[in-house]
Amino acid sequence: MTNLGRLYSMLDGVKLPDDLPYSQVSSWELRFLYLLGRHRLTGEDRLVELGSGGGGSTYALALGLRDSPVFDEKTGRLHAYDFFHVGKGTFATEKFFSAGSKPADGDTSFLDDFRERLHPFLPFLEIHAGDIWQTSDPDDTSPIEFLHIDIAKTARVFRCVSERFLTRLRPGSVVLHQDFAGPRLPWLHHSTGALLPYIEIAGPPIRSTLAFEVTKPIPEDVLRRISEDAFTYEEKLKLISAVQERVDRDHTGGIPFKSVLELAKAYVAHYDGRHKQAWSIARKLTDDEYLSRTRADHFEQLRTAYEKDGGSAGSGSLLTRLSKKFAGR
Ligand SMILES: C[S@@+](CC[C@H](N)C(=O)[O-])C[C@H]1O[C@@H](n2cnc3c(N)ncnc32)[C@H](O)[C@@H]1O
Repeated sequence: MTNLGRLYSMLDGVKLPDDLPYSQVSSWELRFLYLLGRHRLTGEDRLVELGSGGGGSTYALALGLRDSPVFDEKTGRLHAYDFFHVGKGTFATEKFFSAGSKPADGDTSFLDDFRERLHPFLPFLEIHAGDIWQTSDPDDTSPIEFLHIDIAKTARVFRCVSERFLTRLRPGSVVLHQDFAGPRLPWLHHSTGALLPYIEIAGPPIRSTLAFEVTKPIPEDVLRRISEDAFTYEEKLKLISAVQERVDRDHTGGIPFKSVLELAKAYVAHYDGRHKQAWSIARKLTDDEYLSRTRADHFEQLRTAYEKDGGSAGSGSLLTRLSKKFAGR
């Protein structure tokens, strides 16, 4: 069993408070964050959360740190990065406001709500509010002990994450990739493929989260290729295949990662303007029970792009099939 893998058997025993701030991550992932804080992290190097949202994930982790026998609240720091406001392109939801929606005066910031809810942990919380490209320091090379990535929803942001944070990982660092079940974020998958020789995957993903520990120094060249997005189309597909060999169903049994990662390959092609290849990969997955139920919009996007490109998908029947499947559930 891997070092981090030992935490899996403790998941069922974690009872988090009922009044935890609203979170977009599942209770499984919140409990894993708690366990990491409680049993694995020390706070000797930086603890970083990218994409704290309304503070649900931050709270679970901070609670674990507070219950830890080794974390010192006087010296340890948990760094929380987020826009902390809603608006176009932020990927933040109005549910991050304590009231569940934006105030009537139109204020878009939920930073005060975040501070209020995280009040017990403010002494060891360092908040970085704003666009991560502005709030992170390009010259900071301090080692990172823990990196929770729940922010890399675009290639632009992933570039910042890889340039300024992945480069600070050391052997022993722990990384959580939220949204690993998101086929539209293939940079999470091919970058993980490139890191495979230097990491140990904790075990099956926990719902949408892949956890790993760095076991060997990551060569600068590998980090540079990741942050510069320098892998070719073919290389990216191979890197994702390598990850497919390591992950299957998630810990709860609900998410078939091999299929999810296959659809991520279609998105590598799609973002590369190869709409024919994208659809050719994706259409083989339309019978997948999980994907057809949860990702019908992805199939539609890829098929439409292919058709706009002059292809003929001949997929009227396919769409009908998908919508029938959907309606039948
Ligand atoms: C999925 S949410 C985080 C959910 C949170 N971890 C939870 O427990 O509910 C993603 C967050 O990333 C933030 N985000 C996305 N792009 C960002 C950027 N460029 N700079 C700062 N924050 C960003 C959004 O504001 C949003 O709150």
